[in-house]
Amino acid sequence: MSSSSVEFWSGKHRTYRGTEWIREPTYFAQEVIERFPEKARILDAGCGQGQDSVYFAAAGHTVTALDFSKYALDQFPPVPADASVTTVAASLTDTPDLFDDTSFDVVYAHLSLHYFDDTTTRSILSDLHRVLRPGGLLCVMVNSVDDPERGEGIRLGPDYYELAPGDRKRYFSRAALYEMTYDLFVPYLLEQHGRSRKDPHRAFVRLIAERREEPAHD
Ligand SMILES: C[S@@+](CC[C@H](N)C(=O)[O-])C[C@H]1O[C@@H](n2cnc3c(N)ncnc32)[C@H](O)[C@@H]1O
Repeated sequence: MSSSSVEFWSGKHRTYRGTEWIREPTYFAQEVIERFPEKARILDAGCGQGQDSVYFAAAGHTVTALDFSKYALDQFPPVPADASVTTVAASLTDTPDLFDDTSFDVVYAHLSLHYFDDTTTRSILSDLHRVLRPGGLLCVMVNSVDDPERGEGIRLGPDYYELAPGDRKRYFSRAALYEMTYDLFVPYLLEQHGRSRKDPHRAFVRLIAERREEPAHD
């Protein structure tokens, strides 16, 4: 992953530090936690400053929190004494080397899977499938095509733009996320709206899905 992306994100995280919303669990975390099994092993993929990682860990889950911004990982809120959070400073594109097959009950990715080109996104999703146990849950929220920023910057591909060096964004429709995940995951919930504490708009796609074991039929 390019160093300009890491620098871009560490710079963003400096601006987020000190906001109130960065300390609170996200709406999506509060929605999906209801579906987690007890004492789940969770991969928080692209965890940022860790508000959701610590929220899950405080509820009794064991969390591996991955982000390529070391700066973001250094901002984690205090972890309660009996809670388990392990941080990993690495790129989402490096997970094939990091985690064993079927080692998580839940893979959670809040606003962290819409920065990549098509091939890279499919490769990351394939690896998230590999690290989930059979029956494991994938919980994803990404930017949607309704995002007010969509169309800004240099077009790199369908619904994929570079807004500044290191700042690339992809915008998903519900159908595009379905198509991209369908072979690997069975969706329970797939909706083209969502809420974040940071943004006033609802331009997100939310997916909650189970790891698929048998090949999908058309
Ligand atoms: C919008 S923030 C979301 C952070 C956190 N999940 C939250 O909701 O607050 C996107 C996160 O993805 C991380 N990120 C972007 N590209 C990444 C990559 N290739 N590998 C690991 N993390 C990445 C950024 O550092 C940033 O923390």
